[in-house]
Amino acid sequence: MRLLQTEAAARLGEARRESGFSRAALSAVYGPETAEAADRGDYRALLKACGDDPLSVWTRLFTVGTAVDERAAASALDPFGLDEALDCGLLIRDADGVAAGWGLDFSGERTLFSDQRPNTTGGRSAEHVLGIGGASGLLLDATVRSETGTALDLGTGCGVQALALADHARTVTATDLSDRALAFAHLNAAVNGVDLELLQGDLLEPVAGRRFDLVVANPPFVIATPGGGWTYRDGGREADGVAAELAAASAGLLEDGGTMQFLANWLHLRGTPWGERVASWLPEDGARAWVVEREVLDPLDYVRTWQRDSGESGDAEQAAAWLDWFDAAGVEGVGFGMVNIRRTDGPSEIVCEEARHAVDTPWSDRVADWFAVRGDDLEPGTVWESRLRLVDGVALQQAAELGGDGWEVDRQWLQQRHGMRYAEEVDPLLVAFLGACDGSATVRLQVQLLAETYGGETAMLYAQLYPVIRRLIERGFLASS
Ligand SMILES: C[S@@+](CC[C@H](N)C(=O)[O-])C[C@H]1O[C@@H](n2cnc3c(N)ncnc32)[C@H](O)[C@@H]1O
Repeated sequence: MRLLQTEAAARLGEARRESGFSRAALSAVYGPETAEAADRGDYRALLKACGDDPLSVWTRLFTVGTAVDERAAASALDPFGLDEALDCGLLIRDADGVAAGWGLDFSGERTLFSDQRPNTTGGRSAEHVLGIGGASGLLLDATVRSETGTALDLGTGCGVQALALADHARTVTATDLSDRALAFAHLNAAVNGVDLELLQGDLLEPVAGRRFDLVVANPPFVIATPGGGWTYRDGGREADGVAAELAAASAGLLEDGGTMQFLANWLHLRGTPWGERVASWLPEDGARAWVVEREVLDPLDYVRTWQRDSGESGDAEQAAAWLDWFDAAGVEGVGFGMVNIRRTDGPSEIVCEEARHAVDTPWSDRVADWFAVRGDDLEPGTVWESRLRLVDGVALQQAAELGGDGWEVDRQWLQQRHGMRYAEEVDPLLVAFLGACDGSATVRLQVQLLAETYGGETAMLYAQLYPVIRRLIERGFLASS
């Protein structure tokens, strides 16, 4: 299926460029206040400022979502034809002229068409192709953007991740189960002058036997809607099976040193820590994985959220069936987060953690930091000989109570002001150790001095301190100088 042939899609891209319509134009041409109001859904100033010129026509169609007259549309779309626009579905006729049949989003410099018409909710078909949503934005932000060879986007939808991969990958392959999604991905590739290899099929099936340097997926991760009719979000698996399948496939899908990053929902089952469940999906060998849970919803909130998403909030029977399924499966909550995996040699190392607080973006820096400090650098012998320094932006904080002898400190913790913004409790011995972490002395010398000051045997003191020092390096409080 094609929505447009490549040549026609390229002309559509040219028409958009000629009109000057872009994210920046809204503010640059109509003024920052008008643009801010429009971002909040108040289009009064924008509508007043719009005339019949091409930029105004594109703005009214694709930002505001109102109809324009046919002659103005024809002139704004040139060299793309009005008939072509009506035939492919870009525009639809209505009582006031023609209106947007598709939506248009921007990702960086790129233009992306989809089924997500401006300012509409509900009324989606089962094959609806999403525009750029919150989850798409999170994965765009989290993807490690170093130059790479082969990249894969699983469940590409309108192609938003694939087009971003094309900025830093030699070749990009994009897959989807939906014919219509692939048609939008083809269209958007042509509109933006990018080459993609597009393959249709179920999850990993179209790339069976192939390996990639970078794999990303914002997959259909929603825990099956009863009736399961939304291709853009229901992967056709029981429970959190989509995430389990992707995690299990990672080692076989990645080249040596390759990276896989995907978003997922996972179940919190009564009596099983969520991290144990997610870790059990990953291969025993060949994966270094960082799984970050960003939020957890109880079953009722989860059902309400996804019913709102598809405009089914009034369907009480669907909600009841969904909640019954959660009860029967012993589900206490549903976690949402990202899974970052690097292919390595040897036994897998898997860290699952909660990070529900605000974190410095881009997430790609956080992911790169996490992978950067693993491995041999953390071995006891290497740490022993290293010169550690406290990373910039780490502060020691204390809580104290007024006692008989004045303020008595009863808690101390390190707090990061940047990056992951972790907090980590520390005891007085560690505080003494950290006070000398300016990068000048080896850990060996520091521990020897501590042993002399506080008494005790150096080796035993190091055995006590090493796991904590290691954790502080892993979490970015300490770094080798
Ligand atoms: C949440 S959308 C993500 C779209 C896009 N990648 C993004 O980041 O916005 C999930 C995509 O997976 C596709 N999909 C659904 N079931 C699939 C399956 N079994 N195998 C492959 N793709 C599937 C849907 O058609 C949809 O395009």
